Amino acid sequence: MARIRKLSDLLIHLICLIIISYIVTQRSVKIFTFKKLIRFLPDLKYILVWTSFYGIEEEGQTAFVRRECNFKNCYFTQNRSLFGDLRYFDVILFNAQDVSLSGNDLPSTRSVLQKYIFATNDSADNYPICSPSYDDFFNWTWTYRLESTIPYKFITVNNIDDQDLGSHIPWKRNMTPINNQIKMQLYMKSKAAAIFLNKCESRSRRELFLKNLQYHLSKYNLTIDIFGECGSKRCKRNTMTPCYYRLRRNYFFYLAFEDSLDADYITRDILYAYKNNAVPIVLGGAQYELFLPPNSYINALAIGEEKLAKTMNDIIQDRERYYHFFKWKNHYTITESPVLNPCSLCASLNNQHWLTHKISFKNFRQWWNPFYSDRCSIRWRKLNVF
Ligand SMILES: *[C@@H]1O[C@H](CO)[C@@H](O)[C@H](O)[C@H]1NC(C)=O
Ligand SMILES: *[C@@H]1O[C@H](CO)[C@@H](O)[C@H](O)[C@H]1NC(C)=O
Ligand SMILES: *[C@@H]1O[C@H](CO)[C@@H](O)[C@H](O)[C@H]1NC(C)=O
Ligand SMILES: *[C@@H]1O[C@H](CO)[C@@H](O)[C@H](O)[C@H]1NC(C)=O
Repeated sequence: MARIRKLSDLLIHLICLIIISYIVTQRSVKIFTFKKLIRFLPDLKYILVWTSFYGIEEEGQTAFVRRECNFKNCYFTQNRSLFGDLRYFDVILFNAQDVSLSGNDLPSTRSVLQKYIFATNDSADNYPICSPSYDDFFNWTWTYRLESTIPYKFITVNNIDDQDLGSHIPWKRNMTPINNQIKMQLYMKSKAAAIFLNKCESRSRRELFLKNLQYHLSKYNLTIDIFGECGSKRCKRNTMTPCYYRLRRNYFFYLAFEDSLDADYITRDILYAYKNNAVPIVLGGAQYELFLPPNSYINALAIGEEKLAKTMNDIIQDRERYYHFFKWKNHYTITESPVLNPCSLCASLNNQHWLTHKISFKNFRQWWNPFYSDRCSIRWRKLNVF
């Protein structure tokens, strides 16, 4: 009797143990799958950042959540072995700066469903693509070029109601003259032009244009003040604010000279001018009339150094003419826009039309930079890499 009792006791203990351990394992399985679900939602788009990339602070969805994107179901990682097989990634992202001169580090396997995306925040002239490996390689492009799959702009023109007007804007032709308040802000100006410059040699050879312009301006007793490492004037260390103040107060013009001449390439430098009541003198390869309000800037390349110097002098002598350059303020605002915004990428990856639409970049090197073969020659590499 006692033996049977002992045995049944043992049995009950055993059953209890089994039940408890079952519950425990069930719970841990549940917790595990729950965790797994948070990190690995089935409709999550996995983006493998093949090289380096600006703005990707942390692995995961943080980049999309932090920016409060409309679509947050995207996941950044730099871990090539996250799934053990590269074909599981929805997207592989390549940064132009890293693939410009080399074509050795390529994914070993590829799924036809995957999108290879070419992304860059810099110009085609600064970073041509040289290796033939990249022809017929990328599915999408994410650059400042308007004909990119996911284009972005360094600057945005909004209307007075704060709506982004995009590019190819139908400009208002009869703009309202500026009021006295704006005229007052322009009253103290006495110096011709300023430029903030830290990169002293450039593909656009803006440094040469600058030199010639200085020469022609000297005939009118006008000068250009160069702030930064390429000139003698300095902003206070760590802050540009005192320079903005001086630009706003003293200078008629700001020289928004790009470091390379590329289609659609207008960087945020031009905002120094627009934000600080100076008329931008632009030098670059973009069709400026597509991006900027008419009569709000002067195109340096279109008129050349000598004529530009004369034009600047004429305008400085004629206040009324100078005021005309600020009429845009009555109709538009011009602001900085986020470059390579992860939100745009994630939105595109949720766009069914785009996902199924096949785009081919067969002659990719040519598409990105028509002069790539000169730029990629050995001679170029030896002589011109800054
Ligand atoms: C990459 O992912 C694999 C598989 O999940 C993991 O074992 C490895 O530790 C990860 N590597 C890094 C650097 O996070
Ligand atoms: C991506 O491009 C490659 C090479 O052109 C092509 O073979 C593949 O079908 C494309 N895939 C998608 C999803 O567009
Ligand atoms: C692109 O990003 C790099 C790294 O953040 C930066 O140094 C460079 O100035 C950027 N280029 C442009 C044109 O904004
Ligand atoms: C230029 O400036 C200098 C010194 O301020 C002055 O002596 C000279 O007369 C000016 N020349 C002209 C053409 O205005």
